[in-house]
Amino acid sequence: MMRPSAATRPRIRLPGGGCFFSSIAVLGLLVMYQNIRFFSVKLSSYPSDTVKAAVGGEDDMDPSSGVYHSWKVFKMNYEEMERKLRVFVYPGGHRTPQRLTGKYASEGFFFKNIRESQFVTLNPDKAHLFFLPVSCHKLRGQGVSWEGITNGIRNYVRALMLRYPYWNRTLGADHFFVTCHDISLRATEGVPLLVKNSIRVVCSSSYNNGFIPHKDVALPQVRLPFSYPAGGNDVNTRKTLGFWAGRTDSNIRSALTTVWKGDAELDIQNSRKNGTSVKHNKFYGAKFCICPGKSEVNSPWIADSIRYGCVPVIMSDYYDLPFNDILDWRKFSVILKESDVHRLKHILQNISDAEFVALHQNLVKVQRHFMWNTPPKRYDAFHLVMYEVWLRHHVIKY
Ligand SMILES: *[C@@H]1O[C@H](CO)[C@@H](O)[C@H](O)[C@H]1NC(C)=O
Ligand SMILES: *[C@@H]1O[C@H](CO)[C@@H](O)[C@H](O)[C@H]1NC(C)=O
Ligand SMILES: *[C@@H]1O[C@H](CO)[C@@H](O)[C@H](O)[C@H]1NC(C)=O
Repeated sequence: MMRPSAATRPRIRLPGGGCFFSSIAVLGLLVMYQNIRFFSVKLSSYPSDTVKAAVGGEDDMDPSSGVYHSWKVFKMNYEEMERKLRVFVYPGGHRTPQRLTGKYASEGFFFKNIRESQFVTLNPDKAHLFFLPVSCHKLRGQGVSWEGITNGIRNYVRALMLRYPYWNRTLGADHFFVTCHDISLRATEGVPLLVKNSIRVVCSSSYNNGFIPHKDVALPQVRLPFSYPAGGNDVNTRKTLGFWAGRTDSNIRSALTTVWKGDAELDIQNSRKNGTSVKHNKFYGAKFCICPGKSEVNSPWIADSIRYGCVPVIMSDYYDLPFNDILDWRKFSVILKESDVHRLKHILQNISDAEFVALHQNLVKVQRHFMWNTPPKRYDAFHLVMYEVWLRHHVIKY
């Protein structure tokens, strides 16, 4: 079988310059593909030692705390993922993140973490999943337009389709793409199969906006660096009933400000001018932090609330909460409809001190799942994202 020579090999450029496939002559069509057996998520019985190991082990989490839908199922599948998951990162694209700071930091951490992790395999035939390492944040940093980003991703995927057999055998269903940028899902629109079949891991996980909740994955957004240390875990210092400050750049944010600005117990501010440090200081003093949604990239506000121990009040219709299938958000947050805005104070006042303390204590338990680290740590945000991607590979045949 002939291989194209270096001269005839297609060379694909992303806008902004990365040259692909410069060193890939070796990988080709010579390999027979083994059927990889179906994996099934185990939901039934557990050996008792597995359950015991969950209590008081190295990853000491109280399985009865209720913040997980099922700690036993989660832990078992998580550990299977740790042992087995292998990801092939296509060559070309971006090797390094644009930044690990700012409001798109989750994307940067993912791009850094995946290459630091144990999941990467250089052998695509061993891979369960294929990562498309194109960073929208980085392309924007190079001055590429939104249209240019969409075209760049289309060209990149087309080149992979021609060059490798892996896209075609599942039509992209075992491929995943990650971004935390305002362009969001629009970046994938140049490739209908990427929209339809692939796993898109994005910060803007709103299902009135093209996000497909059972296929795509919500990436927890975070603005880094944080202005204040984590914690504020003393409930007694929390005197303000509810707090929010930000721009009124969505309907619910405008409504929130209109209804509650100037209220004595709810500290709601349209703070276009104030720096984030002023705002963050208030996270320690509030019981509840209101998290009103926005159409594109949702907001780092939820991650801030979690970090500072302020119970998040989710007011964002059609927003798919990160790790919603692992974590029982109702145990550490209050989930309201946007139309509840007029009743907001009443609803929060009606939550008893005991209920608040329980929510708060549970919030502290989930903090580590929303933290990004380099290198990544077990059960942190990176690993939970990988877990979500791993679960989705169970639905396809390769
Ligand atoms: C994958 O499918 C496309 C479109 O059908 C085709 O042009 C391409 O050659 C295929 N790729 C491989 C590696 O066979
Ligand atoms: C900005 O912060 C200052 C100082 O904390 C405060 O007095 C002021 O009300 C804030 N302004 C807005 C618009 O939130
Ligand atoms: C107030 O809380 C109680 C008990 O938690 C609940 O049964 C009731 O429906 C709540 N009332 C309102 C108006 O939310």
